[in-house]
Amino acid sequence: MHVLIINGSPRIKKFSNTDMILKEFTKGMCENGDTFHLYEISDKDNWDLIRKAYDESDNILIALPLYVECIPGLLMEFLETLTPKTGNAKMSFILQSGFSEGVQLRCGEAYLEKLAGYLGCTYGGTLVKGGNFEIRFLNDENRSKATSPYAEMGREFSANGNFDSDKCKAFTGPEILPAPVRLIVGFFFKTAVRKSFEKDAASLGCERPLDYRPYT
Ligand SMILES: Cc1cc2nc3c(=O)[nH]c(=O)nc-3n(C[C@H](O)[C@H](O)[C@H](O)COP(=O)(O)O)c2cc1C
Repeated sequence: MHVLIINGSPRIKKFSNTDMILKEFTKGMCENGDTFHLYEISDKDNWDLIRKAYDESDNILIALPLYVECIPGLLMEFLETLTPKTGNAKMSFILQSGFSEGVQLRCGEAYLEKLAGYLGCTYGGTLVKGGNFEIRFLNDENRSKATSPYAEMGREFSANGNFDSDKCKAFTGPEILPAPVRLIVGFFFKTAVRKSFEKDAASLGCERPLDYRPYT
């Protein structure tokens, strides 16, 4: 099969976690000869080309990060320019996010199911996975650890043509972290994770403390 893949992140390719996830996902998907064409919604100069590819495709996969509980505004702006399809097109999604609990992404997932219908497509399911805040900041070894499991999901998508399999559903992990784990995570957020966020912020040129409040 040939898949039109759209990275719905507003972040440019070089910095997009979604793009790093897609690298591994497509590796697995293409092992048995499937092909794809990948476009980035962040590249506004290409929107005419992406629209043309959408019009000509019957197998569309939109991979997107969760931004403020739902889909990024830039992706929505693009989607509003599309004409609903009339043939037998299928639309599937990869929805990934920062927070790790599955429950954080369910509202966005419910919207994506509706979105496929609004655009005249049958729904090929959504691969739902959180815990991806740090991908772009990791070293090569740890980034590979974080993203390589997506290759297996690419194989599943290739074999089934959708994300309905039990393996894809289990990929989300826990819906809600058990209370003791939440306590431990809370502790780490105040210590190790905070340090790591401070380091990430400094690497982005941030010179003030993370809790700096210029307006109070
Ligand atoms: C403006 C903004 C809003 C976000 N909102 C959420 C959110 O509501 N829930 C969540 O779990 N992660 C949220 N995130 C984290 C992203 O989903 C996560 O970092 C993702 O991996 C980014 O992918 P990208 O680099 O391809 O854009 C947000 C990130 C940004 C920048």
